[in-house]
Amino acid sequence: MIDDMLTLARTMQSRAYAPYSNFHVGAVVKGANGKLYGGCNVENAAYPVGNCAEASAIAAMVGDGETRIVEALVMGPEGDLCTPCGACRQRLREFAAPDLPIHLADPTGIKQTITLGELLPMSFGPSHLGK
Ligand code: THU
Repeated sequence: MIDDMLTLARTMQSRAYAPYSNFHVGAVVKGANGKLYGGCNVENAAYPVGNCAEASAIAAMVGDGETRIVEALVMGPEGDLCTPCGACRQRLREFAAPDLPIHLADPTGIKQTITLGELLPMSFGPSHLGK
């Protein structure tokens, strides 16, 4: 249910550790098992070491034993249409098909829904390596 994704994304966003950018992001991925996994961005004084909310959510999912994503939601600050960065599009691609719906949200709700294939056309994926 989309409301559950929004609620979890708000909680994750509220826990973001982003003292350098002050850009707080929450992400939720739904596994093929129906469970929701949330994550937030975690920055670091050594800037490149920080990680995105999507990476955190995907790590939680894989750690739980799930490797298929069927729906995703990214929540940025109010008023911003926060799209996944290029690296996170590729991270999602590893575990999802091009028709994956990605909801772009702010704390007030979903602003737009787009597919992974639209964000990352002609992507390189596991099948290129026979997986
Ligand atoms: N960020 C995410 O966590 N996900 C996105 O989709 C876009 C950007 C984070 C990374 C960094 O902590 C901050 O937002 C500013 O780039």
